[in-house]
Amino acid sequence: MKVGVLISGRGSNLASLIEACAAPDFPAEIVTVISNNPGAKGLEIAEKAGIPARAINHRDFAKRDTFDACLSEALEEAGADFICNAGFMRILTDGFVEKWWNRQINIHPSLLPAFKGLNVHARAIEAGVRISGATVHYVRPEMDEGPIIAQAAVPVMMDDTEETLAARVLEAEHKLYPLALRLVAEGRVRIVNERAVISPAPE
Ligand code: GRF
Repeated sequence: MKVGVLISGRGSNLASLIEACAAPDFPAEIVTVISNNPGAKGLEIAEKAGIPARAINHRDFAKRDTFDACLSEALEEAGADFICNAGFMRILTDGFVEKWWNRQINIHPSLLPAFKGLNVHARAIEAGVRISGATVHYVRPEMDEGPIIAQAAVPVMMDDTEETLAARVLEAEHKLYPLALRLVAEGRVRIVNERAVISPAPE
């Protein structure tokens, strides 16, 4: 599988995917990294790893659909047949989501369907939950919706701040995203009635 990774910032999940894909038996390869933000640190991570990386600045486009069309074209030109959103902070148009239907996944730093959207960790602490975590799911038109491929849970400690909880969840994300991508790339994930069904590993 040839993967395009979409980012907007730091790129630590991108780094975990790059590391996983470097293993000789990993069933996916990252062919391009694209950021909507030209200043994204993640672009440097990609370049250092020798992966073609570029910015497509959403500010250069008057409308969402022209930005999305350019993004789609860039992914196809790079040979990508699958997309991993890794801290990509733009809402995609329905047209883009439909075009890449079941070929685009995202990581979100909560146990979905709890705490969709932004400021996840502050809201989890505020709600008093004892467990939080991360979710990898297929992308659907509604933000942070879509069939769940894999989740990882972490405890919420009594003295957690937004920062300490975010750090604990991020560590889990870095293990979870490569695992979820592997499942998909091995062809072990089917969507049945909008749920992801995972088949057992071959003997
Ligand atoms: C991660 O917490 C991810 O779950 C969320 O945005 C953050 C991106 O971090 N969607 P990074 O850029 O991968 O370091």
